[in-house]
Amino acid sequence: MRVGLLTGGGDAPGLNGIIESVVRSLALAGHEVVGICDGFEGVFEGRVRSLTPNDVHLIHATAGTLLGTSNRVGTRGREAEFYAAYRRLVLDGLIVAGGDGTFAGLSPFVTETTEWGPPIQLVGVPKTIDNDLRGTDLTFGYDTACSVVAEAVDGLRLTAEAHRRLIVVEAMGRTAGWIALGGGLASHADAILIPERPYSLDALTRFVEGRRQVGQRGLVVVVAEGAAAQSESVAVARQVDTGPAVAGGPDPFGVNRGPEAQRLGGIAARLAGRLEEATGWESRVVVLGHLQRARAPTTTDRFLTTAMGVEAARMVVESAFSQAVVYRSGSVTRAPISDLIGEPRRVGPDHPWIRAAEALGIFV
Ligand code: F6P
Repeated sequence: MRVGLLTGGGDAPGLNGIIESVVRSLALAGHEVVGICDGFEGVFEGRVRSLTPNDVHLIHATAGTLLGTSNRVGTRGREAEFYAAYRRLVLDGLIVAGGDGTFAGLSPFVTETTEWGPPIQLVGVPKTIDNDLRGTDLTFGYDTACSVVAEAVDGLRLTAEAHRRLIVVEAMGRTAGWIALGGGLASHADAILIPERPYSLDALTRFVEGRRQVGQRGLVVVVAEGAAAQSESVAVARQVDTGPAVAGGPDPFGVNRGPEAQRLGGIAARLAGRLEEATGWESRVVVLGHLQRARAPTTTDRFLTTAMGVEAARMVVESAFSQAVVYRSGSVTRAPISDLIGEPRRVGPDHPWIRAAEALGIFV
């Protein structure tokens, strides 16, 4: 078989692990792998490269993606052009590691024969550091992002205590609080603020003052970029120009939906200002930003990408198309690609990590 491989959307640590596992296992079984460069851009422009085991040797230990990616090019309004460009690649199957937007962009072509022709034979691999894709319990890149947050908090606590300061750390995650919650809990941050639980500024102020009164020298708050105080709106770093609003559902690249049409950022600065004003405790801000996507994948993420890459390759060989490799109830398994598309999977109100944080006296 001649199998295409594409990485789409924002990068996540582990993408190179998927590439290495897919290429090695397909090559060993006698198949050819064609890498498509820069996500959908590479399809439109016919930019591909061959991928041999030598090309991908040990890249699983690195962040980024050997193939490049893009979260700016979609298929909406360009369906016929996209399909024709895809057919010119003459592939027997396509493996795509991407998020909700990538799979929504491919959905017009994958289930049945359409006006353009027979379906694209697709196997999906869910990807996002945000861990908010529906249809899977875990996405690769998430554990690495949590480690970045946790190690930052571990270090920042020391300088906060040295200077008797309060430090507010801003984590990524868009409309979901998984990264802030996972990284904040792993490092026993003093407070963890997530979009799913709008916080009371008064209650937080009382909590911070209480900690100070009992003699705590430094304090670290982890806030998700999409979090906001009750009755306040999310902090927006920049309104992204996504073109005219699309009626009847998500933009095929997922960039046209509510808060996701905006680049989030600035909540840590807002909050640090408010807390300093209210408590007089000198405050500083650390925005972790793209460092959360820049670290070599953790062993947990490497296990996941190895298992998922091998399974995705197996699915192509078995012609198990229109399906994704997912992680459910502790196992790597298969599910319809449509399971991945839709509203983000957010932290539930009774999630055990919320209860654990409360039991430790963390403000959450
Ligand atoms: O979805 C992954 C993510 O890293 C979000 O957590 C963040 O809001 C966004 O991507 C940043 O996107 P960009 O790379 O376009 O700045």
